[in-house]
Amino acid sequence: MVIKKTKLWLAVTFSVAILTSAAYMIHRKYSDWKIYGGSGDNIKYSALKQVDTSNVNQLKVAWVYHSENEDRTKYGPMECNPIIVNNTLFGVSPHLKLFAVNAATGKEKWHFDPADSSDNKTWARHSVNMNRGVVYWADGDDKRIIYTVGPIAFAVNAETGKLIPGFGVNGGVDLRKGLGRDEKGVSISPTSPVIIYKDLFITSGLVSESTPGHIRGFDVRTGKQKWIFHTIPYPGEAGYNTWDDKTAYKRMGSTNAWSGFSLDNKRGLLFAGVGSPTNDFYGGDRWGKGLFGNCILALDAATGKLKWHFQTVHHDVWDMDISSAPVLVTIRKNGKKIDAVVQTTKSGMVFVFDRVTGKPLFPIKERPVPVNDAALGEKLSPTQPFPVLPKPFVRQIMTEKDLNHIVDDSSYQEIKSRFKTYRSQGIFTPPTEKGTIILPGYDGGGEWGGPAIDPETNTLYVNANEMAWVLNLVKEKSDNKKSMSNLEAGVTLYQKNCMGCHGPERLGSGDYPSLIGVEKKYDFNQFSELLSTGRRMMPGFAQLSKAEKTAIGSFVLTLETEQAKPYTGTAIKNNNNSKPSYSFTGYNKFLTKEGYPAISPPWGTISAIDLNTGKYRWQVPFGEFESLKKKGIPTTGRENYGGPVVTAGGLIFIGASADGKFRAINKKTGKTLWETELPAPGVATPAVYEVDGKQYIVIACGGSKWGGKSSDAYVAFTLPYK
Ligand code: HEC
Repeated sequence: MVIKKTKLWLAVTFSVAILTSAAYMIHRKYSDWKIYGGSGDNIKYSALKQVDTSNVNQLKVAWVYHSENEDRTKYGPMECNPIIVNNTLFGVSPHLKLFAVNAATGKEKWHFDPADSSDNKTWARHSVNMNRGVVYWADGDDKRIIYTVGPIAFAVNAETGKLIPGFGVNGGVDLRKGLGRDEKGVSISPTSPVIIYKDLFITSGLVSESTPGHIRGFDVRTGKQKWIFHTIPYPGEAGYNTWDDKTAYKRMGSTNAWSGFSLDNKRGLLFAGVGSPTNDFYGGDRWGKGLFGNCILALDAATGKLKWHFQTVHHDVWDMDISSAPVLVTIRKNGKKIDAVVQTTKSGMVFVFDRVTGKPLFPIKERPVPVNDAALGEKLSPTQPFPVLPKPFVRQIMTEKDLNHIVDDSSYQEIKSRFKTYRSQGIFTPPTEKGTIILPGYDGGGEWGGPAIDPETNTLYVNANEMAWVLNLVKEKSDNKKSMSNLEAGVTLYQKNCMGCHGPERLGSGDYPSLIGVEKKYDFNQFSELLSTGRRMMPGFAQLSKAEKTAIGSFVLTLETEQAKPYTGTAIKNNNNSKPSYSFTGYNKFLTKEGYPAISPPWGTISAIDLNTGKYRWQVPFGEFESLKKKGIPTTGRENYGGPVVTAGGLIFIGASADGKFRAINKKTGKTLWETELPAPGVATPAVYEVDGKQYIVIACGGSKWGGKSSDAYVAFTLPYK
């Protein structure tokens, strides 16, 4: 009896211990937000559950932090997912100041402005572009934030906000160095934060079309480069033979992991997704599959050695960069637990692999795609990979029946007649001069916000766009003439370098401004400076020579005396003389004359996918137009950027939408339980954390994406009681 009792007692204690330790582990693992995306898994999950489906409608603003000290009407974008370490929240302002605030009150502790606290002027000049987050690293009293501003990775003391002198040169590492190319022509500016593995920080970056996006590991103490993984392989390296041109490794650019990383810390495995190689829309000078373009990569985090890869698009000519970091989860299949890595894509696919072996966990089929009537000199891949499961989370082809019916008949007839002139055969339709429909769009499908995963149910939540765009190619003039004027050269150089954003008539396109009349704002020197450094969403053009800039300037700034002078720069050739070359005319949305998408709704969605089975739990339209709602039209969904966060409290928190709202959604049903208006759209992923037993949800509200409101505010929400 006694023995039995003891046994029972032991068994009970033992199972309680297991239960509590398992719960404790899950709790410990996901209850803080010390890393971009919440954890190395990057699944944007929080185990906190004080805020739940029953009380979420009582959320109140806890604090608002204005991250710029001057009042402006227009701030830049703010896409930062802040981190919270020891009750301090670290984030970045629209002008890329780094700040530390008390995470419970929003009161500033310090800020670091790269423009005025550096003794190296070039750092300030590169206060460009975007920053989606920062990382924290500590060893005893040495506590650092590493973050990037343009091409510089800074190490800032996490307690004082001062640069750490022993890191790089006076606290900054110049990432233009060490890529194996002439630094003068290199333009790099990481938008996603670096990731830490042991005492290394790892980065790739947003790069110009002539800069390779190699992935590199650096010593986090000294800033010294430790390893490099060539995303465009060198002779003798894996993947080298997938480029027909054996000199591609010397000249090809992009192929960059701009969307960040995830890390299996236990195995020392780094995961990255790679963008397309140079020339987003024309590959006549880069025949072949072009590894590691558009690949999911598993690398040894300590050495940068390749473990495995999978290419999601062969020979990409649609700008189908892998647009978010892969995410890590343990799924269940046939009663077994498998450590998996999951990748959502711009085209709306979900790829699921065994994290260690790279084997697909759902079948992936190579299917034939149209290759006829491609641009001259193009050699498209006859097949492309399609996961059989999960099914795509957006429409991948637009037919006449997908045209927008909610506009009046004249508007409908107008889009219908235009649609008939375009080529629309699904996501892999060859780009053409007469216009090719790009759906779900240049910006996704899934975008840089990336998906969230609930590890309790292995449900993946992904927000997406369904926008049809029109891609038009134009043949570049091949100006191999011996002599030409600055104006002639300027027009050709403009087509090659600027037209994609500023449009064929310089009227701008998409989010990019018109250049008509810029001569009133800039003299040649200021213009030339702007081209060298870039600014926010405009990349730098460090590779252009003075003569080339003079030629472009003579055209764009209408400098008539300069225009007439002979062009003195190097002959403007196509990348490969024997073939024609193409540019594209800009990022043009296919819209109705009222400005609504020409494709029928939904224009934005959130999907919940069971990763164990590959089946959908639900899908709902996400976001709305007030104007259409007033007319009684059911929720249409709307363009959105920035990811969701899922919590143990049964909720999905998401801003992202162009409608400027911040929402809490029931994770089981997709139903919106709470919403509030933000100071400007929260084009960012929220962070969830706890201070003194109180749960907070914070989001950066930068706006600036759709020409509407912009702000410098970080807004934190909490329950009004403990
Ligand atoms: C990837 C898209 C992109 C490319 C390529 C690009 N630009 Fe821009 N450009 C922008 C954006 C975005 C802005 C607005 C920058 C800001 O927010 O300050 C801009 C701004 C400018 C401005 C200032 C406009 C103003 O009203 O102040 C000039 C001038 C300009 N670009 C010239 C050029 C030239 C010349 C080229 C080619 C050498 C070029 N850009 C290539 C995106 C681009």
